Amino acid sequence: MTTITSVSREARLFDPPEAFAKAARIPNREAYEAMYKRSIEEPDAFWLELASELHWFQRPTQGLDYSNAPHAKWFADGTTNLAYNCLDRHLESARRNKAALIFEGEPGDVRVLTYQQLHREVCLFANVLRRLGVEAGDRVAIYMGMVPEAAIGMLACARIGAIHTVIFGGFAAEAVRDRVNDAQAKVILTQDGAWRRGSVVPLKANVDKALTETPCVRHTVVLRRTMNDIEMEAGRDHDWNDIVKSVDAKCPAPALPAEQPLFILYTSGTTGKPKGVLHTTGGYMVGAYASTKYVFDLKDEDVYWCTADVGWVTGHSYIVYGPLANGATCLMYEGAPNQPDPGRFWDIIERHRVSILYTAPTAIRAFVKWGDHYPLKHDLSSLRLLGTVGEPINPEAWMWYRRMIGAERCPIVDTWWQTETGGMMMTPIPGAIPTKPGSCTVPFFGVRPKVLREDGTEAGPNEGGLLVVERPWPSIMRTVWGDDQRFRDTYYTRFPPRDEEGKSWPIYFTGDGARRDEHGYFWVMGRVDDVVNVAGHRLGTAEVESALVAHRSVAEAAVVGRPDELKGQALVAFVTLKQGEVAGKTLKDALLEHVATEIGKFARPDDIRFTDGLPKTRSGKIMRRLLKEVAAGREVKGDMTTLEDFSVLAKLSKDDE
Ligand code: WTA
Repeated sequence: MTTITSVSREARLFDPPEAFAKAARIPNREAYEAMYKRSIEEPDAFWLELASELHWFQRPTQGLDYSNAPHAKWFADGTTNLAYNCLDRHLESARRNKAALIFEGEPGDVRVLTYQQLHREVCLFANVLRRLGVEAGDRVAIYMGMVPEAAIGMLACARIGAIHTVIFGGFAAEAVRDRVNDAQAKVILTQDGAWRRGSVVPLKANVDKALTETPCVRHTVVLRRTMNDIEMEAGRDHDWNDIVKSVDAKCPAPALPAEQPLFILYTSGTTGKPKGVLHTTGGYMVGAYASTKYVFDLKDEDVYWCTADVGWVTGHSYIVYGPLANGATCLMYEGAPNQPDPGRFWDIIERHRVSILYTAPTAIRAFVKWGDHYPLKHDLSSLRLLGTVGEPINPEAWMWYRRMIGAERCPIVDTWWQTETGGMMMTPIPGAIPTKPGSCTVPFFGVRPKVLREDGTEAGPNEGGLLVVERPWPSIMRTVWGDDQRFRDTYYTRFPPRDEEGKSWPIYFTGDGARRDEHGYFWVMGRVDDVVNVAGHRLGTAEVESALVAHRSVAEAAVVGRPDELKGQALVAFVTLKQGEVAGKTLKDALLEHVATEIGKFARPDDIRFTDGLPKTRSGKIMRRLLKEVAAGREVKGDMTTLEDFSVLAKLSKDDE
C-alpha cells in the first residue's frame, strides 16, 4: 500500500458572493492566480514588497537566506520592531483613536483600548519587564486567561526583544512547570484567577505549585481579575497595577534584527514531551500581516473576532500580531461559549456588530448540537465573512455554518495551517476562490504544497497521500527550542531533499494526510496517525466521521482503529447525539447502514459507542490517542495534561449504552 484511500466526494461548489467580490482586495480568480504566480516565481521580490508595507528601521534587501538549510532566514539584513508595527505605526494617523481591542469579560464587563491607550499600556509594561531584569533574548512565560493584559504582556516582550512563551490558562501546574523549565523563563506573568463558566480557575495557586520546582524564575507579575485569595511572596511576586505605577511610559521601540527570536510556543506531538516551536520576528510579522490582510479581506471598518485563546498559535497570529499589524479592531472574549447560555457568541456578535468571525469546527459542532434556536434569536446581519481553523470541518457542519450563521451571504474561509507554519498556508481568498464544503481549497501566496506517495512520487488527482510543503515561506518555524535535532527529524527526514536550480531543497513534512482533487483543491484528512488500515484500505478517519455527522441524529463523531486479526484494523466510532435523540440498537444499525451507503461497506464501523462527550485537548481537538486505547480495551495511560474533561473518559471506559 503506497497511498491513502480517500472516499469523500463532495461536489457542492459555492462562488464568492458577487457583492463581496466587488469590494474585495482580490476580486477574482485571475487576480489571485497572477499574485500567486509571482509569489512562486519571484518569492524574494514578492515578499520584500509586502514587507515594505510595514515599518523597518533598516529596510531589508534580502528575502530568503537558505545557506543553513533546513533553517530558513528571511529579511536577514533588515531591522524592525513588531510592537512598533502593531502600535506606534498607527499613531501617525487617525487610527490612533480607533479601538484596537474590544474586550468582553465573561461576567459581562466591557473594556475598550484604543491604539493610543494600548500603546501606553505596552510601553509601561515593557518598562516593568526591564525593571525586573528582563533583557533582549530572555524568556518570559505568560500564564493568563483571555484578558487584554495577556496581549499587553506579549507586545511588551516583543517591544524589548524578549521571547514570550504563552502557556494556555487551562494547563495544570505540572505542564506549567515543564514548559517554564524547558524555556528557562525568568519571569511569569499571571492572574489571581481566570473566569471560566462562572467559576474561578486558580492561576496564581497553580503558579505557586509550579514555582517550587522552577529555579529559573525570579519574579512573577500578578494581575487582579477574580479577586480570589492568593499568596504573594514579597520581593518575588508583584501586583500588576502597583508595579506599573512605578515606571514611566516612555519606551522607544529599539531596532531589532529580523531574526530576533519572538516566541516559543509548545505544541504536543503524539508522544513524548511537547516541542517548543520557535518563531522569529521579521518573517513571522510579514506572514501574519499579509495573511490577515488578504484572507480576511480586512477593512478599517471591520469588527474582527477570532474566538481562539491566546494560548494557541491562532491567538498569537490572528488575535494579536496579524490584526494589530493591520490596524484592525479586534474583539477579545474572556469566557466560555455557553456562559450564561449557548447563545453567548451570537449575543456578542449582535451587540458589538462583529463583521468577521473566525472560529473552530469543534465549536461549530457544539452549536449544531445545542440547537438552531440560539442563533435564530439574534441579529447576525453585521457578519460579512466567516472562517474556520484547527481541524478538518465536516461538510455538514460547514453547510450549517454557511446557512445558520452566514445566512448564505458570507463566504467561508477554511484555513489550513499549523503552529509550525506560523500563519495560514492553504485557504480560499474570499472574493476570488469558489469554496467546497470541507476543502481548504488552494495555497496562500508563496506556499508550494504537494501530496506525495510513501515513495516520494507525487500522488495523482484524488489519490490520498502525505502533505508536504516545498520551499520555505517567511513565517516557517526556525527550530525546536533546545532540540535542533528533533526539528530536523520531525519535519525534514520523511522525504529526501530535492535538487532544483542547482540547489538542494529540503521538503517540509506536515504530518497530515491529504488529497488534491481534479480541480486542484486540497482536502486535508487529518494527522497521518489518524489514518487506519482496514482490510487493505487506508482510510482517513475524518471521512468516516463526516459520514456519521451527516446523519441527522449525530452531533459529533470520532473514529479510531483497533487491532483486528482479520482486517488488520477494525473501526470503532464514538458518537454523540443531538439533543432529543435516543441511543440504542435501532439507531446503531441505522448509522452502520448510513456509513455503508455513504462510503461503502468496508468503511462500516465494527463498533459504535454512544457517549455524552468526547475527550478533547484544551484547543478542542479530539484526543484520538486516548480513544484508541479505550477502543482496544487497554487501560488509558500517558500524558493527559491536555485533557479537557476526565469524566468523559471515565464514562467511555465503561461499556457502551
Ligand atoms: C489540523 C492550528 C484540516 C491539521 C492552526 C494540522 C486542519 C493541525 C485545519 C495543526 C484545517 C488545522 N483543515 N485540518 N483548516 N487547520 N488543521 O498546530 O492536522 O494547533 O496539522 O495549529 O491541525 O494544529 P495546530
